[in-house]
Amino acid sequence: MINDKYFLVLRNSIKHVLFLLCVFGLGWSCTKQEEQQSSQQTEGNDWNSIKTAFQDTLNGKETDLFVLKNKKGVVVTITNYGARIVHMVVPDKTGKPTDVVLGYNSLKEYLDSPSAYYGALIGRYANRIAKGAFEIDGIAYQLAKNNGNNSLHGGPGGLHNVVWDVVSSTSNSVELLYTSPDGEEGYPGNLDITVIYNLNDEHGLEIYYQAMSDKKTVVNLTNHAYFNLNGDGSGDINTHVLQIDADEYTPVDSTLIPLGEHEKVDGTPFDFRAPTAIGQRIEDPDAQLQTGGGYDHNFVLKKGQTDSPEKVATVFSPKSGIQMEVYTTEPGMQFYGGNFMNGLQGKNGTYEYRGAFCLETQHFPDSPNQPSFPSTILEVGDVWESATIYKFMLKTE
Ligand code: BGC
Repeated sequence: MINDKYFLVLRNSIKHVLFLLCVFGLGWSCTKQEEQQSSQQTEGNDWNSIKTAFQDTLNGKETDLFVLKNKKGVVVTITNYGARIVHMVVPDKTGKPTDVVLGYNSLKEYLDSPSAYYGALIGRYANRIAKGAFEIDGIAYQLAKNNGNNSLHGGPGGLHNVVWDVVSSTSNSVELLYTSPDGEEGYPGNLDITVIYNLNDEHGLEIYYQAMSDKKTVVNLTNHAYFNLNGDGSGDINTHVLQIDADEYTPVDSTLIPLGEHEKVDGTPFDFRAPTAIGQRIEDPDAQLQTGGGYDHNFVLKKGQTDSPEKVATVFSPKSGIQMEVYTTEPGMQFYGGNFMNGLQGKNGTYEYRGAFCLETQHFPDSPNQPSFPSTILEVGDVWESATIYKFMLKTE
């Protein structure tokens, strides 16, 4: 008889395979013309020399950059340093290749900016845990504090700053693995984490995460891509038009820790149920906008947690004609409007104030201390799973 642990692993492996078949099997056909278009559209970036700038050895582990291409002119690059998305090049309405994510063109620049989360896989806990403290079954855990009195994005040595092992890579996908040792940044349990980045031919970057622990723990992983659909380093994102399927969001205190309740978006600048320019209400005299210094809030997604990724948000830039859709299995999404950005130099120029937006799919911030929020507990023998897709298309107004 199969014991419970193996049953769970088996059940989750089957789910995993079904998920991969269902999500990754999308659209493989393309015409010769599209292939030619693809190679032209990536001209201008010398991927070989950029790749070389990521090849090094850190703490005995090799770092690299993986260049994923699809047959419709999209290029995504991933480095195993922090499992980061480094480039996401999509054609704009004139056919011009446009890199829509912020970041750097070399490993050295990421190492020089250890608290820049550009494109990184965030964990073990995305966003904040109050006072960096929580309890599981009466045992108190203290995390590294790196954001005032709170812990942010897994702490200073979080998953964004470690070298991941490369399990496999193809021309359009890469699978990475990292085992976070028991006690790393204060979190209990040896945590085995895998992530798959897969670029499909429907212009979508699929991200699939799985994690298992040998001790009861908390987990909340996300990706922290900073997007600008006019191209990175091309000004603020105020004219981007955003739509989010959320009737509620979680208001925060002055340290950006949720107060615990859900607030209705009706009649507030947080109502993005109909497409609205990000900058349209940014100066409204709203107490939560002032507390957050702008948008920096978790939206309670109407669909809740789901087994397969569902569409939760759309962003469109009238200037470039590029539209992005977000699909996820997660119950929440942090909409961060770049309020702390202050003129850092990036791949293509200066990253000014509100020069990007992030849509970080997640469980809610500080859930380990908020009993009314969906649980982030991972039991021994269970497999934690999550999937998010960022999908691109052109839209005419
Ligand atoms: C947080 C912001 C933080 C940013 C850092 C977001 O997820 O909510 O407060 O400044 O990440 O990149």
